[in-house]
Amino acid sequence: MSSLRFLPNPTHFPHLNPIPKHPPNPNPNPKPKHPFTQIHSALQYNRKPQLTGPTPRVVVITSGKGGVGKTTTTANIGLSLARLNFSVVAIDADVGLRNLDLLLGLENRVNYTVVEVLNGDCRLDQALVRDKRWSNFELLCISKPRSKLPLGFGGKALVWLVDALKARQEGCPDFILIDCPAGIDAGFITAITPANEAVLVTTPDITALRDADRVTGLLECDGIRDIKMIVNRVRTDLIRGEDMMSVLDVQEMLGLALLGVIPEDSEVIRSTNRGFPLVLNKPPTLAGLAFEQAAWRLVEQDSMKAVMVEEEPKKKGFFSFFGG
Ligand SMILES: Nc1ncnc2c1ncn2[C@@H]1O[C@H](COP(=O)(O)OP(=O)(O)OP(=O)(O)O)[C@@H](O)[C@H]1O
Ligand SMILES: [Mg+2]
Repeated sequence: MSSLRFLPNPTHFPHLNPIPKHPPNPNPNPKPKHPFTQIHSALQYNRKPQLTGPTPRVVVITSGKGGVGKTTTTANIGLSLARLNFSVVAIDADVGLRNLDLLLGLENRVNYTVVEVLNGDCRLDQALVRDKRWSNFELLCISKPRSKLPLGFGGKALVWLVDALKARQEGCPDFILIDCPAGIDAGFITAITPANEAVLVTTPDITALRDADRVTGLLECDGIRDIKMIVNRVRTDLIRGEDMMSVLDVQEMLGLALLGVIPEDSEVIRSTNRGFPLVLNKPPTLAGLAFEQAAWRLVEQDSMKAVMVEEEPKKKGFFSFFGG
């Protein structure tokens, strides 16, 4: 099995490389820099990513298996897009078990939800919660925590909602991100209905991959052809020890374009509990930088390649049982 260099490396993404201001350094063996210095320099973008495709880009963030990082991805990619000056509406479609508001630290400001909008109890703009840090980022929750999916609420209601967002006086948002609930039941079908593209989040384990494979089929049946995946919670130490599937293995199994690879990072849990998404951390952590780069690729409808850095002798079919 191969080990992969998955950590964000700006040399793999020429568009992230700043224009060199100085001639090449004549010293061939410079002292190694502090890791954060290197990470920070990768964020000195010399241009804004070019938005491709018609707006709004309606993107569902889904997985099949629960707890793999959909909401974390929605929060971090959403705020990365806002930082890149795109207008973003993030819809928490996880009815009854919503938590995107918590990750964003906006829980105390959600007074109305889509259910009240549909009942005529409030206007759409009253249900949209504007982020104080990035005013071009807004959150919209479908319903109150622990409430059930209202009767009659389905894909059509979400399509109506997306149309209403398009028709707003403030202008149509560049991105509408839909945080999908786990599973493949009614909530999933509702969440994917208005989407034109999907980000499939998976962890590199067989249960998540089997669910992701099933979800890919359902998305394609629904007419969503643009599906890219994010491999989350990757650990190089486990990959090297052949205790975790490599990103290349995951890619081969699912056959999807790779939007990003996010390392396992304790900062994710810390930032979740603080309601302060990782991408806002200064200095950025590797996981935060990986989310930022995934956001760039999303804007440009680009994908990345898993780059092989070393080849280890093949052991007998450790993961060969997956998928037969
Ligand atoms: N890269 C990571 N490193 C460490 N922890 C992570 C990472 N990504 C997500 N987590 C943690 O995993 C847990 C689940 O994440 P999250 O809520 O985003 O998953 P989800 O797919 O939205 O779950 P659900 O299916 O319940 O909606 C959280 O505690 C989060 O902090
Ligand atoms: Mg979630």
